[in-house]
Amino acid sequence: MPTKHTAKSVCSHLQKHRCKYQPVLPNILKKGPAAVKPKLGKATKSVADQAAVKRIFPNTYGLPEITFVKGTNTAACKKAVRVGVVLSGGQAPGGHNVIGGLLDGLKKANAKNKLFGFLGGPSGIVENKFIEITPALMKDYRNTGGFDLIQSGRTKIETDEQLKAAKDNLLANKMDALVVVGGDDSNTNACVIAEYLKQQGVDISVIGVPKTIDGDLKNKQIETSFGFDTATKIYAELVGNIERDVNSARKYWHFVRLMGRSASHITLEVAFKTHPNAVLIGEEVLAKKMTLGQVVDDLAKLIAKRAKAGKNYGVVLVPEGLIEFIPEMKELISALNDSLAENEAELSKMNTVAEKKAFIISKLPAKLADLMKSLPAGIASQLMLDRDPHGNVQVSLIETEKLLVEMLRTKLAEMKKEGKYDGKLSAITHFFGYEGRCGIPSTFDANYTYALGYNAAVLALNKCSGYLSSVRKLTKKAQDWECGGIPLTMMMNIERRKGKEKPVIKKALVELKGEPFKHLLKNRADWAELDLYTFPGPIQFFGPDEVTNLTTFTLLLEQGKKVK
Ligand code: FBP
Repeated sequence: MPTKHTAKSVCSHLQKHRCKYQPVLPNILKKGPAAVKPKLGKATKSVADQAAVKRIFPNTYGLPEITFVKGTNTAACKKAVRVGVVLSGGQAPGGHNVIGGLLDGLKKANAKNKLFGFLGGPSGIVENKFIEITPALMKDYRNTGGFDLIQSGRTKIETDEQLKAAKDNLLANKMDALVVVGGDDSNTNACVIAEYLKQQGVDISVIGVPKTIDGDLKNKQIETSFGFDTATKIYAELVGNIERDVNSARKYWHFVRLMGRSASHITLEVAFKTHPNAVLIGEEVLAKKMTLGQVVDDLAKLIAKRAKAGKNYGVVLVPEGLIEFIPEMKELISALNDSLAENEAELSKMNTVAEKKAFIISKLPAKLADLMKSLPAGIASQLMLDRDPHGNVQVSLIETEKLLVEMLRTKLAEMKKEGKYDGKLSAITHFFGYEGRCGIPSTFDANYTYALGYNAAVLALNKCSGYLSSVRKLTKKAQDWECGGIPLTMMMNIERRKGKEKPVIKKALVELKGEPFKHLLKNRADWAELDLYTFPGPIQFFGPDEVTNLTTFTLLLEQGKKVK
């Protein structure tokens, strides 16, 4: 039995107006699911490790890509269906519109279709906690940020008991399909569930929707994940405001860490929007095999150069995932991941971080133990924090910006003694992460998420299981976007997680040969010296298309478009 939705919040004036916005549907979906047919492409392969991925997903491997084309498909809409939706992982602007699009797509196909939302993330499926999402309930959540309609969570459904409970609950509630809205890990999990259900002979489709502000769930077919557009606009507004303050006061260096657990896409996009004095890109640091010391040396040189020109101020952008890209730190974190997983039982008996730290250090190879000991105590402790259920380090809790400032102070003091620096470092640190994850979705994200949800409904009605909802050609007008489904196994490779080799959707990192990074290379020397700060201001929802309907620089550059 579904539980009752009880949460209530007061609508702001903007929210009241924004709720009335009708997202633009791609033309192909406009006449509803009964006027759309799936066109199957060729059988697909995983991006890497084909034999291993095929062995793990024998029933969902090799599916064809799907493109929706015009055609009569009343058969898919005849039977009334029940669909479950779950929001998984970190919040991203537009999640509510995915649910809205899904609901509208289902109701357009057949008014008797029903949508249910599992509560609190994937654990809601295992614990059978859900609500019915009716049009009346949906009304106040259209075009709003956040995931509060049904909340989210990071539980991974992986043990036999969890998989069986999920299957039993889906069957008991007579579900025909499950839509999982998540990032790379959550969609990997969606594929595990799709495979398990097929293996068990259960006819329930599982469909994914690409969500993550980090922007690292993308490939040729999935051009961007939802939320990246809005989050980067929010961060860029804040960074732009800081730059204006910097330019006014001319006395502080601001070190801004931006979310993006692994890839540096957010930092790169915010840099395009604001032109800061320095931008660290994790993928570049890795390619150049830089040590932490070298990263600090480069920043110190820039600070000294600007000081010489009388500029004891500036803005530095630091990606949250930087720490994992520095080869020595990467090695340390990977050894810590293995050691924390291997010694879980023993560590759980210890009460203090100091005790755990001493124990773990004793298990590390000498070189890594020395590195761990050399780190500031706070950072070393942050590196030891619990991993998330997918085995990821919680980098949002590691204060890399403070580590850099601490090391810079030491380096600049040395340079001062050597006569190489004659300035003053007044540093202010920031972390912009959670501030951007639940903002009101931009017009791009409002349209994109609505289309992704509606498209997921069409995939569900056509019984496509093991697919990711795909809406493409995103630099065109929303009316001209193309829709379809991409097999989840197509994006997989094998990676080491929690000390074991696991199939996972391959993360898209910043491509050093790609156009976005090349654009940074072309501009960063000027941004470093000339104070070419730009101030994007807040997201606009009303007004000329030029300000309300912008897409990201990243998407434009990746699709060969010119940017200013
Ligand atoms: P997803 O990959 O689940 O979308 O989450 C990404 C993210 O927002 C990262 O940028 C950040 O490091 C992480 O979530 C924070 O996680 P939590 O919400 O568990 O603190």
